[in-house]
Amino acid sequence: MDDTWHLYTDLAWLWPMWGDAASEYAHYCQHVTSLIQHYARRPTGTLLDMGCGGGKNVLNLKRQFNVTGVDLSPTMLEQAKDLNPECSFVQGDMRTVRLDRTFDAVLMDDAISYMSCLADFVAAFRTASAHLNPGGVLIATPDVTTETFQQNKTIATPAARTGTWDGLDVVFIENVYDPDPADEQYETTVLYLIRDHGHLRIEMDHWTMGLFSIAIWRRVLRETGFEVREEQYVAAEDEYTVFACVKTR
Ligand SMILES: C[S@@+](CC[C@H](N)C(=O)[O-])C[C@H]1O[C@@H](n2cnc3c(N)ncnc32)[C@H](O)[C@@H]1O
Repeated sequence: MDDTWHLYTDLAWLWPMWGDAASEYAHYCQHVTSLIQHYARRPTGTLLDMGCGGGKNVLNLKRQFNVTGVDLSPTMLEQAKDLNPECSFVQGDMRTVRLDRTFDAVLMDDAISYMSCLADFVAAFRTASAHLNPGGVLIATPDVTTETFQQNKTIATPAARTGTWDGLDVVFIENVYDPDPADEQYETTVLYLIRDHGHLRIEMDHWTMGLFSIAIWRRVLRETGFEVREEQYVAAEDEYTVFACVKTR
């Protein structure tokens, strides 16, 4: 099945409903901030969020940093700008983009999952390295690794009820599946159940994503110029490895 990008194009208006930016992302961003401050070997005033999407992480990180966001999707960047008018946003591909400046910290969050082959994965970390000042910190958090992947894991999430979506009831059903455990990919399928004043419309996305072992994460991060530390982040019943990486060269 071919990949689709509805959530980041024509269905991007659904993104603010998927989780609540203020509460859901705040705890993770506090963790990210404390790791950056702990590991940095320089003052940390500026941060680049690679794959910033609708700017939910930016909303929380801008309290501590002067934040710039990069994303492939102009539609998602519009949302990020609306949520964070005081921050800068640039359209670009994390594999190739080169801004004309460097930062004290870089965040590589869930968007890294879209690097669905090793070459793209390496390219994204080269981009991170190219945008970091020496002694700055890259924080990279895999959604899943080979070790933590759960075949057929399916999560249904009702829309957060904090917005102004009168008459709309939305449920997100997300399924992950690895058809071939021998390769470095898995697929995410999302169903959007959209009820507008009770009238049901069902939409769908399908994404091919990258799946790498912790050993490959460590190796690629080291080879792209980082000194690698590993921390754990616990959210509800899930635990994530967070790579805190200092740029050494
Ligand atoms: C789940 S969203 C990120 C949400 C974000 N963490 C937030 O705080 O709102 C994933 C994003 O990855 C972006 N993306 C996917 N591939 C990309 C690439 N090659 N370069 C830049 N952004 C990419 C998509 O456009 C999408 O906005």
